[in-house]
Amino acid sequence: MFTLLLPLLSIPAAWAASDDYHWAYSGENGETSWPTKYGFCGGVHQSPLDFHHSILQYDSTLYPIRLQGYNVSTTDYFTLSNNGHTVSMSLLPTMSIEIPPFTYIASSLHFHWGNLAHPKGSEHCIGGKRFAAEVHVVHYNSKYADVATAMNAADGLAVLGILLEVGSFHSSYDGILTRLVNVKYKGQNALIPGFNLQTLLPTRLDEFYRYEGSLTTPPCNPSVLWTVFRNPVFISLEQLQSLETALYCTDGNSTVTEEMINNYRQLQNKGDRIVSVSFREGVVLAVALASVLGVVVITGVTCYLCNRKRRGKKNEKKMVVYKAAMVAEENTSKV
Ligand SMILES: *[C@@H]1O[C@H](CO)[C@@H](O)[C@H](O)[C@H]1NC(C)=O
Ligand SMILES: *[C@@H]1O[C@H](CO)[C@@H](O)[C@H](O)[C@H]1NC(C)=O
Ligand SMILES: [Zn+2]
Repeated sequence: MFTLLLPLLSIPAAWAASDDYHWAYSGENGETSWPTKYGFCGGVHQSPLDFHHSILQYDSTLYPIRLQGYNVSTTDYFTLSNNGHTVSMSLLPTMSIEIPPFTYIASSLHFHWGNLAHPKGSEHCIGGKRFAAEVHVVHYNSKYADVATAMNAADGLAVLGILLEVGSFHSSYDGILTRLVNVKYKGQNALIPGFNLQTLLPTRLDEFYRYEGSLTTPPCNPSVLWTVFRNPVFISLEQLQSLETALYCTDGNSTVTEEMINNYRQLQNKGDRIVSVSFREGVVLAVALASVLGVVVITGVTCYLCNRKRRGKKNEKKMVVYKAAMVAEENTSKV
């Protein structure tokens, strides 16, 4: 009886708490407070990570990401929305990626960024370097009914991470960024006509970091197979600044306005995890060493063979001379 009652009694308290609690990236509801309401956030296999040499391992079985249905017709529409934490764009269930042995159906994409003064807001880092911003394209395993169900399974989600850096103007990202003005406040939506979403990804889909991690926002479920592309995608400074300045976490009626900035989570412990890489890390040095070693070995073998051949030829010549002499002798004897 006691054991039955206790969990029942604790439910109303938990509900009341989750009604009051609105997680955030700063202040008293900042990320150090997340685990008190969302247990997974303080648990294992959390994201994001810093990809540095000592945790990386080359894996030759990582095949390039295969995209399906990513070229979306202009007659289809995506919904862009401000959810109070990020700007999110719904995707179509006809879009999917393949990471053997599973197919993962596209659900939505969203952004993480910094602010004007500190324009470094990517979640994943490479060798300690934080990039300007990061895009997450969320997919769920096709063996589950929907993203909400998949979220609770260890093999439920596959997220593509795209690091954004300042460079030249990007026309595909502009289709999203120019519409931010229509979703300035929490709860607002806008429509974006279909386009080829592959253009949001880096050209090289064969170079990435792969590991098992979590959602980087509450409830932080450890159900994500991460694929973070090695090569960043460039957007212009003006484009990045539009992302850093356009949005608010608060709704349009709120008397206080809160800017939507610095919506990235701190780096998490790698724990017992290894990050697999699809490309050879430190490839230049390794190839250079192998080349030098190769040249030494090949030169050595070649010299040895040459010498042997030359010596062989000398012996042959001697033989020939000897034989010729014999023949000559024979001939002379015959004559
Ligand atoms: C995407 O689809 C459009 C029309 O449906 C087509 O014109 C275009 O060539 C396609 N792009 C790629 C890269 O396949
Ligand atoms: C803002 O206020 C208007 C008018 O009172 C109301 O119709 C609308 O639903 C409110 N919006 C939000 C996001 O609360
Ligand atoms: Zn994210």
